Amino acid sequence: MSSSELMQKAREAAVGAYAPYSNFRVGAALLMADGSVITGVNIENRSYGLSNCAERTAIFTALTMGNRNVSAIAVAGPDAWEPLPPCGACRQVISEFCSPQTPIYYDDGRGGHINSSVEELYPVNSLMDMANR
Ligand code: THU
Repeated sequence: MSSSELMQKAREAAVGAYAPYSNFRVGAALLMADGSVITGVNIENRSYGLSNCAERTAIFTALTMGNRNVSAIAVAGPDAWEPLPPCGACRQVISEFCSPQTPIYYDDGRGGHINSSVEELYPVNSLMDMANR
């Protein structure tokens, strides 16, 4: 699956976001090693700090489904006006389950996407891949 196709899956998922406080919908799509795609959305709360990002929702869903083998990640923000890389908390969680070379594609805020990777967004990570040991 191409980066554009995975981004499209993330964009479609964003429709299901629960974001009544920010009105900023985000969708994430994980391409798994078996070829399946697992998505997640941001889920906000009236206690603002409890909000969960789309990326972590997707990772937690994959783990819950018994699948830990993430091959690529796409993040789409249909309401974004600037590039939308994963936040610091999500980078840490992503690093637990992905190799440094895992591609991360994120919305450029102009209808396209930027190609990045786990190691580019989270370069120093001594506990890389602990979950797979
Ligand atoms: N958000 C994500 O879901 N992923 C990101 O990469 C950045 C931000 C969410 C959190 C919150 O619900 C909303 O976007 C506004 O920050």
